[in-house]
Amino acid sequence: MCGIVGYIGQREAEPILVEGLRRLEYRGYDSAGLATLSGAELHLRKQAGRIADLVRHLRDRPAAGCLGISHTRWATHGPATDRNAHPHVAGNGSIAIVHNGVIENYTNLKRQLQADGVVFATDTDTEVIAHLIDQHLQDDLVEAVRQVLPLLKGTYGLAVVSSRQPDVLVGARLGSPLVVGIGADEHLLASDPAALLGHTRNVVYLQDHQMCVLRADGWDLLDANHTRVAAAVQRIDWAPADADKGPYEHYMLKEIYEQPEALENAMRGRLADADASAHFGGLNLNARQLRRAERFVFTACGTSWHAALVGEYLFEELARIPVEVEYASEFRYRNAPMDRNTIVLAITQSGETADTLAALRESKRKGHHTLALCNVVGSTIAREADGGVYLHAGPEIGVASTKAFSNQVCVLAMLALYLGRMGHLSSIQGLRMLKEMRALPNAVRRALGCHDDVRRIAAKYQHVRNMLYLGRQYLFPVALEGALKLKEISYIHAEGYPAAEMKHGPIALVDENTPSVFLINAGGVVDKVLSNLEEIKARGGPVIAIAPEGDDELANQLHDRADDVLFVPQVPEYLQPLVSVAPLQLLAYHMALLRDCDVDKPRNLAKSVTVE
Ligand code: M6R
Repeated sequence: MCGIVGYIGQREAEPILVEGLRRLEYRGYDSAGLATLSGAELHLRKQAGRIADLVRHLRDRPAAGCLGISHTRWATHGPATDRNAHPHVAGNGSIAIVHNGVIENYTNLKRQLQADGVVFATDTDTEVIAHLIDQHLQDDLVEAVRQVLPLLKGTYGLAVVSSRQPDVLVGARLGSPLVVGIGADEHLLASDPAALLGHTRNVVYLQDHQMCVLRADGWDLLDANHTRVAAAVQRIDWAPADADKGPYEHYMLKEIYEQPEALENAMRGRLADADASAHFGGLNLNARQLRRAERFVFTACGTSWHAALVGEYLFEELARIPVEVEYASEFRYRNAPMDRNTIVLAITQSGETADTLAALRESKRKGHHTLALCNVVGSTIAREADGGVYLHAGPEIGVASTKAFSNQVCVLAMLALYLGRMGHLSSIQGLRMLKEMRALPNAVRRALGCHDDVRRIAAKYQHVRNMLYLGRQYLFPVALEGALKLKEISYIHAEGYPAAEMKHGPIALVDENTPSVFLINAGGVVDKVLSNLEEIKARGGPVIAIAPEGDDELANQLHDRADDVLFVPQVPEYLQPLVSVAPLQLLAYHMALLRDCDVDKPRNLAKSVTVE
């Protein structure tokens, strides 16, 4: 949530900051701003609204200088106004700061500062940091920031500049990511490596309690005691084009269509015919330790939690290992009894979700081996887990998660195969699964061919106020995911349920204006789902069925009963979530488009939820 970009070097900072902010706008987009320094003059420009509004403002009032910081905001304290936009200033405009995170003790700090005569100009928690730095600043900005950090309770990723020392940019991190980009005679600071694309691929990730000091010709990393620490410079392997929309109108649509290739990338080098199994480099657990695992706890939020639910079915069916799926926000505060041989697996696209990170840390503290499935390389969760698997989905920019979900499910299926092969799965079964998984990207490619039909269905139902998504077994989590996609980008109220559960309450919602999306399994419960479908039809509810192709009898029954039917390729039941989710993503996309919603930046949301 919120994005930070800083620059110090030989070039004008403003265009570099604006370009970086554009790349981070998906992190938060209710206001934006920047501060640059030309000599000892600080230029502050900030504006409620999107980056485009800031750019218009900069056209009238450019900000000169080769040093600057910038921010795109997702409001936590105070509404999205010009005043509350970052940067925040203190010391008569001599200090400017941008901040991600939440300062939990800001009320106390504010009261103390006000008692000292400080007058506040904003409603934000961030402004207290600016005034505290001003109070501590003698002649060394780095030292002033270092003295202020221990006074702050909560989380921060921050960047500070001062006209009193216009050759240095200071950053600090606790619980909110920051990365230094290393260039030739220039350095950048960002909350997300995507902002650095096109400038440098050499980066250093800050750890919690570290500060960075950037100059045009050098950089240092300091620990809490102000001691220089060595840092590993890493290379980012994403190309700038990966983070562009290409020919697509929206990132979400691009990412939906990238799914077949993303799945290929997730499986590349991991399917091992010789063992009839899958291989992973980074689990950091040997076969003996894995065999001893008696239980897994999967912890995640949002879409990643839905992928975890699919994973529960996969692990229990294929690996015969019990799994519990926990919302990270609940799990972190629960004191659930867990025996030693329970492995905790955090599932997260961003690797920065505050609740998932806290759940992971709590599990580590209790002595559990922790694993993570992450998409963002070098993210905090990826670094803190004892081991893990990268999703290799490429950058996901659309706030609505699509390809990350598919790759999470795919990696969970490979893990289930791997664990299954250590137990009861035969090599014949393993080889069959490898073949089925290799065929998956093409099946998803074909599933995406339903685009025009989905658009037609979306046009028919674009004005409804409620929708139900119903599925059983492997398709129950997909029903939840379809409903989440719809509500988050089209603002239509939608609920996902196990199909049989709707008789226990939700069926009361059914009328001619409440369509139900039925996800039909190919497996054993198909007749049961058809009965559930009849129950909806009997009450006048329109039905959209999504069903596997190739079964004439099923097709005939559905044509008789459902208002619209979309056929997806026939795949084994455990892979059905990956083909069935595609039409649901497209349905949400088209409904949102027809309702004039901002698909990539839905209201009130941000891509990565780094506050509790
Ligand atoms: O980065 P994470 O996977 O940890 O994010 C978890 C959720 O915030 C995320 O999946 C959210 O629900 C998406 N906006 C859903 O599309």
